[in-house]
Amino acid sequence: MPIQPTANIWHNGQLIPWDKAQIHVMSHVIHYGSSVFEGIRCYTQPNGAGIFRLQEHMQRLIDSAKIYRMPLPYTADQLSATTIDVVEANGVVPCYIRPIAFRGYGETGVNPMKNPVEVYIVNYPWGKYVPGDDGADVCVSSWARLAPNTMPSLAKAGANYMNAQLIRMEAEINGYSEGIALDVNGYLSEGSGENLFLVRSGILYTTPLANSVLSGITRSSVITIARQLGVEVIEQALPRELLYICDEAFFTGTAAEVTHLRSVDRILVGDGTMGPITKAISDEFFGIVNGLKPDRYNWLTPVNVKVTETVGA
Ligand SMILES: Cc1ncc(COP(=O)(O)O)c(C=O)c1O
Repeated sequence: MPIQPTANIWHNGQLIPWDKAQIHVMSHVIHYGSSVFEGIRCYTQPNGAGIFRLQEHMQRLIDSAKIYRMPLPYTADQLSATTIDVVEANGVVPCYIRPIAFRGYGETGVNPMKNPVEVYIVNYPWGKYVPGDDGADVCVSSWARLAPNTMPSLAKAGANYMNAQLIRMEAEINGYSEGIALDVNGYLSEGSGENLFLVRSGILYTTPLANSVLSGITRSSVITIARQLGVEVIEQALPRELLYICDEAFFTGTAAEVTHLRSVDRILVGDGTMGPITKAISDEFFGIVNGLKPDRYNWLTPVNVKVTETVGA
């Protein structure tokens, strides 16, 4: 889906028109992938709109920058307050919010430390990410996730998404909605842009951070919801073949939200329909984000925007 522009983008402290948010071809980020970013959703609610786990996303942006020795001149509080201003100024909800920080134009060469850090916050409408209304048909990728001590998986860095692109392109070319990557030791890791959950015999399993996954904010939300629902959650290394014999499986992510998996490598997950634990978690998640259930964990930051359009789930 082509990006639908909004009026303004925030750059280093001020709002600029969408079309003016441009960078030089010799910017460090273009050549060496030196960016860190976030993806955040703002949902419509019966009485307005709310941004999901804004502070946690901004903290992860700061953490990603810290890993790459990229000084960000803003705190998580400042970035959160600015994001509210941007969404309110543009007046588009529901929307996807993309804060990004990168090394800009200046020195040439791999070491980025003398290149300026540019920070932008963009928002725009965006709908469903993983295709498949009755569940997604996915595959195990032939590409492995980032090996430990190569590219840090806990940083949400632009460069990591070269690996993600290989996974996603291969999946789509072969007729699947998404690919699941194994880690370098052959254990399950995650989708190209989603964390992975499996249910077997009533227990919910997810892959731990040590298996080269991003520390997903939807992942942590789903773990909280599951425990609140009385479901036991275990984070442990998981073998690939558990995908083929589990009762239920789903992805989580800001883009994917909670997406049930119908099949993996053309093998049905359970009977292919959404299982009861996935359904209970999904109902609770969408109930909270859409404002139909109480925001019992204070996950939503209200924004003062008149809701004009409906996009996605
Ligand atoms: C590689 C990867 N894993 C997991 C996730 C899910 O993270 P979150 O729930 O914070 O969006 C994402 C999306 O940001 C991702 O790109």
